[in-house]
Amino acid sequence: MSGRRKLIAGNWKMNGRHEDGVALATGLAEKLRGAGTVPFDLLVCPPATLIWPVAAAVTGSGVAVGGQDCHVKTSGAHTGDISPAMLTDAGCAYVIVGHSERRQDHKESDALIAAKAAAAHAAGLVAIICVGETKEQRQAGQAGAVVASQLAGSIPAGATATNTVIAYEPVWAIGTGLTATPADVAEIHALIRADLLKRLDSGAAVRILYGGSVKPDNAVELMAVPDVDGALVGGASLKVADFWGIASACL
Ligand code: PGA
Repeated sequence: MSGRRKLIAGNWKMNGRHEDGVALATGLAEKLRGAGTVPFDLLVCPPATLIWPVAAAVTGSGVAVGGQDCHVKTSGAHTGDISPAMLTDAGCAYVIVGHSERRQDHKESDALIAAKAAAAHAAGLVAIICVGETKEQRQAGQAGAVVASQLAGSIPAGATATNTVIAYEPVWAIGTGLTATPADVAEIHALIRADLLKRLDSGAAVRILYGGSVKPDNAVELMAVPDVDGALVGGASLKVADFWGIASACL
């Protein structure tokens, strides 16, 4: 036993209207309440428009709420952005930073991601910092080097096991139905753990999530890999049965 409590995180991405989001959140809250004591934390990261109603729907259930991104500043003239303080105000305890879709779509650099994570920490949020190689980088044998360089650039000073979670998400496995093999996952998670042990006093306790086409039918195998401390789930987090099925792999 690692002593690290697993974290099952749902990244809803740009999906859901009010009714769907509240129904999904309510369904998960009911599952968690009905399950009694469980050995994992459950987190949902809805799109910004749904954070308030989702937070209201899960109040008191133990389901945590997170944002999908944040700005580095607390407030000001930043049209379209959301600050870490706004996320805490809306009921969030976590925020995802550096997701590969933001790295690609918004050209986010490691330095910006580190600044976002630091801003999240300052606001009292847990930052889930995402790393992962592309298909081309894996085929060129660079997966480990890419992840190491992203960790070096994206983890801010002041990161601890309490305020930081790392998510390893190979870009080629996201939304494609392709998952890394348990051996591939084990190799990269071991590399991340070794890096965290060198970098942080509390590196042994930092949770490292795997993400990329995690489904109920592969979750048991993936969650059993050493140094896999949970999952960051996209597509399969949009249905109560699927997401709960993944969480149940930790029971
Ligand atoms: P997926 O997405 O589960 O749909 O592959 C994972 C993620 O991008 O966090």
